[in-house]
Amino acid sequence: MKNIRSFVICSGLVTAILLGAGSCKPKNAGNAVSGDAASKVYVAPGKYDEFYNFVSGGFSGQMSVYGLPSARLLRVIPVFSVDPEKGYGYSEESKPMLNTSHGFVPWDDLHHEDLSQTNGEIDGRWIFANANNTPRVARVDLTTFHTAEIIEIPNSAGNHSSPFITENTEYVVAGTRFSVPPDNADGDVAINSYKKNFKGSISFISVDKATGSMAIAFQLRCPGVNFDLSHAGKGKSNGWFFFSCYNTEQANTLLEVNASQRDKDFIMAVNWKKAEEYLKAGKAVKESVKYAHNVYNEKTHSATSEIRTEVMVLDTKELKDICYFIPCPKSPHGCDVDPTGEYIVGSGKLAALIPVFSFDKLMKAIAAKDFIGDYDGIPVVKYESALYGEVKKPGLGPLHTEFDGKGNAITTFFVSSEIVKWNIKDLKILDRAPTYYSPGHLCIPGGDTKKPNAKYVIVYNKITKDRYLPTGPELAQSAQLFDISGDKMQLILDFPTIGEPHYAQAVAADVIRNNSVKFYKLEENTHPFVSKGEGETKVVRKDKRVDIYITAIRSHFAPDNIEGIKMGDEVYWHVTNLEQDWDVPHGFAIKGALTAELLIMPGETQTLKWTPEKPGMYPFYCTDFCSALHQEMQGYVRVSPMGSNTALLFSTGKNMPPKDSIGTK
Ligand code: CUA
Repeated sequence: MKNIRSFVICSGLVTAILLGAGSCKPKNAGNAVSGDAASKVYVAPGKYDEFYNFVSGGFSGQMSVYGLPSARLLRVIPVFSVDPEKGYGYSEESKPMLNTSHGFVPWDDLHHEDLSQTNGEIDGRWIFANANNTPRVARVDLTTFHTAEIIEIPNSAGNHSSPFITENTEYVVAGTRFSVPPDNADGDVAINSYKKNFKGSISFISVDKATGSMAIAFQLRCPGVNFDLSHAGKGKSNGWFFFSCYNTEQANTLLEVNASQRDKDFIMAVNWKKAEEYLKAGKAVKESVKYAHNVYNEKTHSATSEIRTEVMVLDTKELKDICYFIPCPKSPHGCDVDPTGEYIVGSGKLAALIPVFSFDKLMKAIAAKDFIGDYDGIPVVKYESALYGEVKKPGLGPLHTEFDGKGNAITTFFVSSEIVKWNIKDLKILDRAPTYYSPGHLCIPGGDTKKPNAKYVIVYNKITKDRYLPTGPELAQSAQLFDISGDKMQLILDFPTIGEPHYAQAVAADVIRNNSVKFYKLEENTHPFVSKGEGETKVVRKDKRVDIYITAIRSHFAPDNIEGIKMGDEVYWHVTNLEQDWDVPHGFAIKGALTAELLIMPGETQTLKWTPEKPGMYPFYCTDFCSALHQEMQGYVRVSPMGSNTALLFSTGKNMPPKDSIGTK
């Protein structure tokens, strides 16, 4: 109850928000764990965790994978940011993954994730992630834990309301955070012409059922509000999407004040089946845009990037029965749909209650045209006509809600630093537990699907303060694990995360672990520069370009002596890992290379581009400890001056004959 008392000390909601949550910090935080917590999170050495937890990395641009309940870090998947550890964004093969209409963008801000679903349940095939800065959506393949595809989103900026999927993964949506002038309009306009020139946009990205391949099916042109978060309907509400909107004031400066004027903003309900009908009926307008579509091929071990130039746009002002606004108090953030699909929970950041909307009532209100008017041409449903009820005095600063599948919801409260469990039917509060500090998102395994697995809730906190040993001005980001199997939520573990976590997903390990690719079959490798055995290795010069076909196997490279590289050459090291067993990667690095290493999985080929900057001797070596003789896995390449007559020679295991090597001193 300590945090309840601290509400009183913080005089009023707005003051608390302006001061930050630290001023509302519960005291004696370290004493909140009960005696049996350790046994609940203990996973013995050699034993596996029960769940995978995919945690967004925020401004690190990647996604990290933890095992739960131990919170052991299993992997960091590079998605939108280069990762020298894995050569992602440094190898020639992976560079096209980060191509955009702006060129190569080596970073982004990854906020939300959604696991693919079949019939509203997690199917373990893919996880989607959004880039918040240069708007993109990525698909990660969960057989390889590799980023398989990235698609850029035109007519958007700040792809926050993304990526949220429909119950059979028909679509991934991406709602723009910033409204902007459309890409084909002149964007060189006065900023204060916002209300006239700035438009919102929601993209529906179709996902191929068999391959996962993404394509922008259509976009909705919307009023110039800011879309924040969303979730698809499910069950009875399948066919609809719900988006929280803020800045319905359409302010373009000092939004913290100017976008908090109205008592209610909106949740936008979107009838996407109707939008599909309009698309089929030819009601969409083709607009010229520019966006990148990048695909990684696991057979060529290479990515390709294409620039696409068209998108189909449906105008929601003209096509009046696609979108409806539902008033929602004030500045809604999370927008979550319960497992039955009947209840839609809006979390107004500045509201002192949680409104719960009824899908059935919404449908009746729309049928009866029970509107209070329109907003920028979109009908606005009467609040009371869509409202199921309000959770009264739940806490301060509600942000996000997940569901336990037993009729309850759990909501995070940023300002009062707590999670609150409440019953969806009677809207009564059942339990509350303090968090440390200021939780943003939360995650129950399957908590946004039809079938939650309510053993744990993981809470991702925005403020760390005193939870860990200090590490200078920048502290570890902080997550907390609660056991929710009983009536009372019990804090059982703190764990630091990589990057700033936003939304996360979790799923029973068995849904994913048995599908894991262990290595790539060499005979299926169709990389244009593969060497399928040491007999195929070679060094080929074509003018200034030199291609080195090189192999790695425990514990040598072939070739490991190379001469005849000259200044001005552009050298491509195509390294094929010949191993055909699990857990035997090799690495490749060369002195002075202005890039990272390569990390090559068994059966894979990866390429490092190298431009020597002066004549001399350059050692190269394997970076991944692969055997007892890993340290011996090394070689030399000789660089001669431009125009010298050093012959192009390469070998392994024997010295190159001096008589053939014209340049030998
Ligand atoms: Cu190969 Cu170390």
